Amino acid sequence: MQRRDFLKYSAALGVASALPLWSRAAFAAERPVLPIPNLLTPDARNQVQLVVQAGKTAFGPHNATTWGYNGNLLGPAISLRKGQALTVNIHNTLDEETTLHWHGLEVPGEVDGGPHGVITPGGKRSVTFTPDQRAATCWFHPHQHGKTGRQVAMGLAGLVLIEDDESRLLRLPKQWGIDDVPVIVQDKKFTADGQIDYQLDVMTAAVGWFGDTLLTNGALYPQHNAPKGWLRLRLLNGCNARSLNFAASDKRPLYVVASDGGLLAEPVNVTELPMLMGERFDVLVDISDGKPFDLITLPVSQMGMAVAPFDKPQPVLRIQPLLVTASGTLPDTLAAVPALPSLDGLTQRKLQLSMDPMLDMMGMQALMNKYGDQAMAGMHHGQSMGHMNMDHSKMGGMGHMNHGGGKGFDFHNANRINGQAFDMNTPMFAAQKGQYERWVISGEGDMMLHPFHIHGTQFRILSENGQAPAAHRSGWKDTVRVEGGVSEVLVKFEHDAPKEFAYMAHCHLLEHEDTGMMLGFTV
Ligand code: C2O
Ligand code: CU
Ligand code: CU
Repeated sequence: MQRRDFLKYSAALGVASALPLWSRAAFAAERPVLPIPNLLTPDARNQVQLVVQAGKTAFGPHNATTWGYNGNLLGPAISLRKGQALTVNIHNTLDEETTLHWHGLEVPGEVDGGPHGVITPGGKRSVTFTPDQRAATCWFHPHQHGKTGRQVAMGLAGLVLIEDDESRLLRLPKQWGIDDVPVIVQDKKFTADGQIDYQLDVMTAAVGWFGDTLLTNGALYPQHNAPKGWLRLRLLNGCNARSLNFAASDKRPLYVVASDGGLLAEPVNVTELPMLMGERFDVLVDISDGKPFDLITLPVSQMGMAVAPFDKPQPVLRIQPLLVTASGTLPDTLAAVPALPSLDGLTQRKLQLSMDPMLDMMGMQALMNKYGDQAMAGMHHGQSMGHMNMDHSKMGGMGHMNHGGGKGFDFHNANRINGQAFDMNTPMFAAQKGQYERWVISGEGDMMLHPFHIHGTQFRILSENGQAPAAHRSGWKDTVRVEGGVSEVLVKFEHDAPKEFAYMAHCHLLEHEDTGMMLGFTV
């Protein structure tokens, strides 16, 4: 039974979440098993092979052309050791250019795989680097300028797991695919004939590309059977544009043990875990009671993201505890996270994110034309169209547009940082190697959600959208929330990034990135 039928069925009975679990047990037999990405360790010569390839994947009733690394969809989880050099040989068998970026890895610009690291169709590229950072769950994905959203939507994404001495000594759950489980969550949308339905247009340039189908490691609402005890979930929000808000269906606590760039000082207990696009959190869940439950995502107040079925909680993964017992534990303390250094006299950089008002207007209008009232459902007061009502010059722009002014409007460069759309050839500034810098990122021009990501560093959040960061967001991060306010981060770069292989800083809403909300910088 497909999720859609399940939802229809549960709608007939009442709210899905109000159903006791056993009444849903009838569907269990039909539920797919959670696919586990292969754990790929470097060979005896410290090499890893990655083939970028096209294939086919069945998603329920849809049978789509998909792209993957070493397979039809998604990619392996590459397991790395801190301090151990590695060469990755990448072969692009697609008939278009791509790049392969190491999101969250502190590696030199030359091997970072940003938009300058193009691999031609049929071409190869080898990169060598030595991970020199704390244990962390990172990921890799394409970064082809203007095409990142589409290439990720087609299925290109994989995990990178870094281990170090500290993480190896902890007795966290460690059995890959058993009690140490990757959970890559993405939404997709399909055409009538079952193909991935991607478009970069004025609507998606404004609010991002989103779908009506939620996939977990590429499967629809799969099930994972795990030994009783502590279960580690390595969560990745791999969506192009959708922020998620994880919870357990029975509200059991989630113990966050790591953020983007490594372990926290100690576990942080939450019942809801909002996650931005590109972010990772490792959480431990106590399943020693033997009771099944769902990992779910709750509705979020982000433009367009409350369109059905996401106006209601959506199941992500069914967890079924087994009779056997797990051996991992939840330690009281995890890792040393240094106190923030003094902020006196640091270089400060201001990054002002902005969207062309015409794009704002046209994108909103396209969204409402397509989805009607649903488009704004769940939005906070003043968050949705409020900024339009307040800003008469923008309303004037809309009138202008309705008289044909919007025709021929080019959205491809309509998202900007400091007034400029991304320019591949002109880095915006040079950061100083080995020096802390304070970056002040402002999204005051609009009320959109901008998960801001910086290459080449794991930073610390000083303030997030005008507030002190939550406990589980105070450790190592590479993405920060900017949503109508100002966020400040403390960055430091330990590697070079020359002009030819500049590092990127950008919004990780991939359609914002692809339409200009990105800058290059050198170190
Ligand atoms: Cu995950 Cu520059 O990207
Ligand atoms: Cu990145
Ligand atoms: Cu953005």
